[in-house]
Amino acid sequence: MLVTGAAGRIGTVLRGGLPERGWALRSLDVVPLPDARPGEEQVVADVTDLAAMVEAVSGAAAVVHLAGVSGESTWAAVSHANIEGTYCVLEAARRAGVPRVVLASSNHATGFTPRPDAGLLREADALPRPDTYYGVSKVAMEALGSLYADRYGLDVVCLRIGSASPEPTTTRQLSTWLSPRDQVSLVDAALRAPSPGFAVVWGVSANTRAWWDLTAARALGYEPVDDAEPYAEALVEVHGEPDPVDPVHARVGGEFTLPSFDAEVDA
Ligand SMILES: NC(=O)c1ccc[n+]([C@@H]2O[C@H](COP(=O)([O-])OP(=O)(O)OC[C@H]3O[C@@H](n4cnc5c(N)ncnc54)[C@H](O)[C@@H]3O)[C@@H](O)[C@H]2O)c1
Repeated sequence: MLVTGAAGRIGTVLRGGLPERGWALRSLDVVPLPDARPGEEQVVADVTDLAAMVEAVSGAAAVVHLAGVSGESTWAAVSHANIEGTYCVLEAARRAGVPRVVLASSNHATGFTPRPDAGLLREADALPRPDTYYGVSKVAMEALGSLYADRYGLDVVCLRIGSASPEPTTTRQLSTWLSPRDQVSLVDAALRAPSPGFAVVWGVSANTRAWWDLTAARALGYEPVDDAEPYAEALVEVHGEPDPVDPVHARVGGEFTLPSFDAEVDA
């Protein structure tokens, strides 16, 4: 199985956890891995290089595509790495006959979606509503995945990841945290689900304060084990109780929807 962006934060977590779930890893990044492990195949390549990607995916059972710009940046940087890169990954998988691709999408594809007045937000009710150029690139990622599933029959699972980190560090993340263990089990479920076709699921832990519905992710076989709540007391003591009308808490994309993210683009 090929993991792109293997040297990054989530890639490093997956490379630690997927082998013990039976996956042999081929790890690709544009930079050499600082910590290659025994038995791990390593590829240094750029995901926007289609010929290199056809070679890299050859013989793989699946691709987990994490590589790219993982936050807001210039349009040129985001669109090249994330849109062109996702096209190359899917097209390489199609050409090489790789049947399944798992795509690291993001909550920011739907960032301006408001929190429902009551109940949980289903993926199907969070239509494309990007909060940044980064979010636009994740909308394009999901659209490309949909095209390759419908037209070429690939299984494509898009993970709308919340906040993947060792532990929650803000009160928003009490809702959006995806723990390292749950990163591994979510990707493992996306790789093993029988014939998912095209699927889009939220990627968060079993957080007491979560408001994104995990029904679809659980239907793939995802069984989250972590909850951000044990961190709540300490975070609330420092930052205060979340104000439900503050956009940081009232919109899917949180602080990415604030005007400051506009200014940072051209800074
Ligand atoms: N970390 C999160 O909370 C989070 C949330 C939502 C979505 N995601 C998505 O998950 C993926 C992984 O996130 P992360 O936090 O590990 O990011 P990261 O920035 O830590 O890692 C990204 C990796 O991709 C590599 N890369 C960048 N451009 C490349 C290219 N053109 N070719 C090959 N490799 C390239 C980088 O060298 C880096 O190792 C990203 O697509 C990100 O958008 C992450």
